[in-house]
Amino acid sequence: MDKMRIRGGIALRGTVEVSGSKNAALPILISTLLTPEACRFERVPDLEDIQTTLKLLGQMGAAITPALDQNRVTVKCDAISSQEAPYDLVRKMRASVVVLGPLLARFGRAKVSLPGGCAIGARPINFHLAGLERLGAAVELDQGYVIAEAKRLTGAKIVFEFPSVGATENVLMAAVLARGESVLENCAREPEIVDLARALRAMGAEIEGEGTEVIRVQGKAALHGCDYRIMGDRIEAGTYLAAGLATGGSVKVNGLSPTYMDSILAKFEDAGAKVVREADGVQVIAVTRPRPIDIKTLPYPGFPTDMQAQFMAAMAVAEGASVITETIFENRFMHVPELIRLGADITVRGNSALIRGRPKLLGAPLMATDLRASASLVLGGLCAAGETVVNRIYHLDRGYESMEKKLASLGADIERIS
Ligand code: EPZ
Repeated sequence: MDKMRIRGGIALRGTVEVSGSKNAALPILISTLLTPEACRFERVPDLEDIQTTLKLLGQMGAAITPALDQNRVTVKCDAISSQEAPYDLVRKMRASVVVLGPLLARFGRAKVSLPGGCAIGARPINFHLAGLERLGAAVELDQGYVIAEAKRLTGAKIVFEFPSVGATENVLMAAVLARGESVLENCAREPEIVDLARALRAMGAEIEGEGTEVIRVQGKAALHGCDYRIMGDRIEAGTYLAAGLATGGSVKVNGLSPTYMDSILAKFEDAGAKVVREADGVQVIAVTRPRPIDIKTLPYPGFPTDMQAQFMAAMAVAEGASVITETIFENRFMHVPELIRLGADITVRGNSALIRGRPKLLGAPLMATDLRASASLVLGGLCAAGETVVNRIYHLDRGYESMEKKLASLGADIERIS
C-alpha cells in the first residue's frame, strides 16, 4: 500500500491548477445513462472514483473511450444490457447509487446494491427512495439490493426531508425523462448540483432553479448527447489554500470561480489570512500564525463538511482555541486521534471538537481513514517539524489528482512511497 512521506515546516508558496470536480464529474458521468447518444467530457479528474464509475458504466454495457491522461472521456450508452449496480462496486463508491434515477427513467428498472455505511457515517438512502417513489417507482429491498421498477415515471412535487446532495441528484436525473412537470423542493444547493443541471441541459433537459432550494423540471421524451467541461473542484482548491494557511505561506489556485467558495474564504479571512479573489482563481496569503476560529458545517451555502478536517489541521497550530461542529455526518472526526499523534491538543464532545492551538507539531507515522481525513493528515504533516508518514493513502487517491506533485510544486518536501 502506498504511503506519503512528508518533511514539514516549510511555508508553501506558489500556484496550482485545480482539477475537475470529483463530486460534479461522478453524477455527470452517470447521467449519460439517460441518452443513447455519445457524451464527450473535458476536465474529468483522473481519480480512483472516476475509474470506478467508468467500470460500473462499462459493466452495464456503456461504450467508453477514456483519455483520462488528458482528463477527457467519451461515454455512449446505446447498448446498455444490464441495469444492475453490484455490491462490490457500490461498496467501493457509494455515489454509484445515483444510477437508480437514470436507469429507472430510461429503462424502467434498476437493481442497485444498498451502499452500506462508510467510515464517516451510516449514509442511508431513504430520501433518494422516497423521491423516486413520488415519481411513481415501485421500490423494494431484497437481500441488500434496491429493486426499482416503473413503466414510465410521472412528474410530481417532491419535498426532500433534508437537502441531500445525492438524493437531489438521483431524483433530478429521474425527473428529466418523467412525463410532465416535477417540482423538487428543499433541494441541495451545492455547486455540483448546478454543474449536473447544466450538463443535463446540454443534453436537452428542461430544468430551472438549480442552485436554489426549488428545482422545476419539464420531463422530455428523450435526451441527446453533449459536449461538456466539468467545473473546477472547490474542495480540492480549499485543501491547497488551507495548506498555505497552515504552513504560513501563500498559495494561489487557478481554474475555478471563487464565487462558490464564499463560506470557505470567509473562514480564511477570520483566521487572519489575506484573500485575493480573481475571475478564475483565488489566493490566500497567511499574514501571521492562524487566528483561532469557530466553524459549523452546514448544507451549501454554509461551510462545507468536506473542508472540516482540513481546517482542523490548520487550527491545530492556531494562536488560541477553536471549536469545530460537524452537523452533516455523525462520525467525521476520524482525523482527530491521528492529529493528536502529531501533538495537536483536540478534545471531542459529541459533534463538536475543541482545538487548542499549539506553536509546533512534531512529525509521526499516521493512518488515513477516509478521503478528507487523509488530506487533513497531509496538512498536519506539512506544518509539523520533522518527518510524517501517512499510511493507506489510497483514500487520498479517491479524490485528489497528483496531490504530491501539486504540493511539491508549492515547495513541499513530500514523496509517495510505493
Ligand atoms: C455528497 O455525499 C458528497 N459526495 C460528499 O462528499 C459530501 O460530504 C456530502 O454530499 C455533503 O456535502 C458526492 O457528491 C459523491 P448527502 P452525499 O446525501 O450525497 C444523510 C467527499 O468527501 N442522508 O447530502 O452522500 C447522510 O447520511 C464526499 O467528496 C440520509 O439520512 O451527502 C448525511 O448524514 C464525502 N438519507 C447527510 O444526509 C439519505 O437518503 C448528508 O448527506 C441521504 C442522506
